[in-house]
Amino acid sequence: MSKFIAKPAHELSGNIKVPGDKSISHRSVMLGSIANGVTEVEGLLDGEDVISTLEAFQSMGVEINKEGQNLKIHGVGVNGLKKPDGALFLGNSGTSMRLMSGILAAQTFDSELCGDESLSGRPMGRVISPLTKMGAVIDSRDGKPPLKIRGGQKLKGLNYDLPIASAQVKSCVLLAGIYADGETCVSEPETTRDHTESMLKGFGYEVRVENNRVCLNGGGELQAKNIRVPSDISSAAFFMVAASIAPKADILLQGVNVNPTRTGVIDILKLMGANIVLSNQREAGGELLADIRVRSSNLRGISIPHELIPLAIDEFPVIFIAASCAVGETRLTGAKELRVKESDRIQVMADGLCALGIECEVLDDGIVINGGEYIKPNSSIKSHHDHRISMSFAVASVRSKFDIEIEGVENVKTSFPNFVELANLAGMNLVES
Ligand code: S3P
Repeated sequence: MSKFIAKPAHELSGNIKVPGDKSISHRSVMLGSIANGVTEVEGLLDGEDVISTLEAFQSMGVEINKEGQNLKIHGVGVNGLKKPDGALFLGNSGTSMRLMSGILAAQTFDSELCGDESLSGRPMGRVISPLTKMGAVIDSRDGKPPLKIRGGQKLKGLNYDLPIASAQVKSCVLLAGIYADGETCVSEPETTRDHTESMLKGFGYEVRVENNRVCLNGGGELQAKNIRVPSDISSAAFFMVAASIAPKADILLQGVNVNPTRTGVIDILKLMGANIVLSNQREAGGELLADIRVRSSNLRGISIPHELIPLAIDEFPVIFIAASCAVGETRLTGAKELRVKESDRIQVMADGLCALGIECEVLDDGIVINGGEYIKPNSSIKSHHDHRISMSFAVASVRSKFDIEIEGVENVKTSFPNFVELANLAGMNLVES
């Protein structure tokens, strides 16, 4: 099991470009594979989760040439996928499993989707239920992977009210809707990331979006499109928090995707008093990009507004680190979803913060954190093999007087393969062993 030793380092500076957006990278591979023609992708996230998606489509007969972060995808059209030789192993990647199940439920062939220990424990009933309503036949282990999807089913359009705010479920139903008879509509209780609907439009598929309802008609085709993947705000978030809490910091994050369905972390940190300035805003390939300058600040505790939760869903582990350095109490409720991410992010973060000497109260659907100092020397943190937990506690080292040891960091490669290199370039002192 690999570890980080995060040594104290209190000054951060520099210009940083974090890798490509994970959500957009997955969708580029999926939509490029079922489009007509050749899609070229630049700036792909070269992380294990995206590679899982890429290899799955290769094993369904799609020719994908990869050179570092550039891809050439020879699309096979909506009906051109072939039966894979065996089960599709999707590693740690919930996005791959949930989105692909929408595509696979409509194929002529049977398929099986499985993953690592963490993915095998994650809830899939949320996609099985709407897909079954559309006519899909899926077996699972009590709503958990592996998913055995029976081919040869004719799907019908569905009008679906999402019971939870989940972009993965919305995307799954929309992707199945491409293959279904008639119209498929998904209404969401709160806004979630909109990359699937905007990328479908980019591939020439007609999608109608009105307030929080997205509709499309089945039976259409996708036309290949070149894609430049912007930097991932979820990865940039580690540096936003590090620079906000470090005693001395001035960092510029270049070309980050600031799609308004993803910027909850900026809003939350600003409410806490962070010094974050966006400049050079521009559009590229249908997404909004900006350079983000972050300087040290004195954060204060807040009650996190509920509408920001889905817009910052992956950033809470590192937001909790910000809260642990803020003056006063930070309160999060209505965020039960955090318990079913790559780990139970409420409990695992609470345990880690407690190991550092921070007081917090675990709630069923959230947490209350009292900001303070990291007073416990020789802390050892269990990341539960969750990439974002590992990186969050590495960020805590900019406020610690002692080394922090973080166990089980190998999954950092799933979303941010050069995290240690960039963190050290900015002035952190992380050693991997
Ligand atoms: C994602 C959506 C989010 C997020 C995940 C990626 C996506 O999940 O946590 O890391 O690419 O659609 P939910 O929509 O299930 O909250």
